Amino acid sequence: MKQRSSTRIPGKARTSSLTPGDGDTSADGRSVQASRTKTVTVKKARGRTTAQHRWLQRQLNDPYVQAAQKQGWRSRAAFKLIELDDRFHLIRPGARVVDLGAAPGGWTQVAVKRGAAEVVGVDLLPVDPVPGATIIEGDFNDPDMPDRLTELLGGRADIVMSDMAPNTTGHAPTDHLRIIGLAELALDFATHILAPGGAFVAKVFQGGSEKQMLTALKALFTQVRHAKPPASRKESSELYVVATGFRGLDKGED
Ligand SMILES: C[S@@+](CC[C@H](N)C(=O)[O-])C[C@H]1O[C@@H](n2cnc3c(N)ncnc32)[C@H](O)[C@@H]1O
Repeated sequence: MKQRSSTRIPGKARTSSLTPGDGDTSADGRSVQASRTKTVTVKKARGRTTAQHRWLQRQLNDPYVQAAQKQGWRSRAAFKLIELDDRFHLIRPGARVVDLGAAPGGWTQVAVKRGAAEVVGVDLLPVDPVPGATIIEGDFNDPDMPDRLTELLGGRADIVMSDMAPNTTGHAPTDHLRIIGLAELALDFATHILAPGGAFVAKVFQGGSEKQMLTALKALFTQVRHAKPPASRKESSELYVVATGFRGLDKGED
């Protein structure tokens, strides 16, 4: 059987957190509802703004945050991929997976846990090593990234997934354009490294211009769907495009 490695490139490895499954044998997201606990009330503290107070109160009472901690996932976002994968069966055993915007590593953990053979996570921020995956610290737009990834994966990717989010400004139309820009770049990137038949998953925000992207997606993939997994907060306009059956690029198109 192939030995899995845990690699972080470049930079120093830091202590890795709990491995999913260590904390709870049901580390596949299905126990989220069951893990609800009593409401925690956060006392007002000097030096904490109302927004910070509200954020803390929400975090401490969020069943997904609690389940992620209990099960050893690095982010509550891990449950979004778990739910998308349960619905669309994206991560097949032996798959080659690219995770764009991987920090702190929740989606990367899920891809490994669900049987992907090769997983490479890319982020501008450092990510603690994820056993079974390779982490690259850098911008996915770097010109050498497609070649580096294909080499690390040992071939073209079966899935390119992007949970990337740009820094938000608080101005909804600007933030929307930024995220769509990022998702479009991720799509362009995916077309250069996906194997025919492959899948592309990306976070977008509702707001209008995601429709342009839909046209491009429909030309490139046999099936294109939108989904809002239950773990995605209701008040957020975030949703995910799930495109499967990559048609492949005609020669000369790249
Ligand atoms: C919401 S977080 C991802 C959470 C992750 N899916 C998880 O489950 O742990 C979005 C990440 O996208 C990364 N990001 C944004 N732009 C990027 C870029 N151009 N290249 C690589 N990573 C990027 C950010 O640094 C951030 O860590």
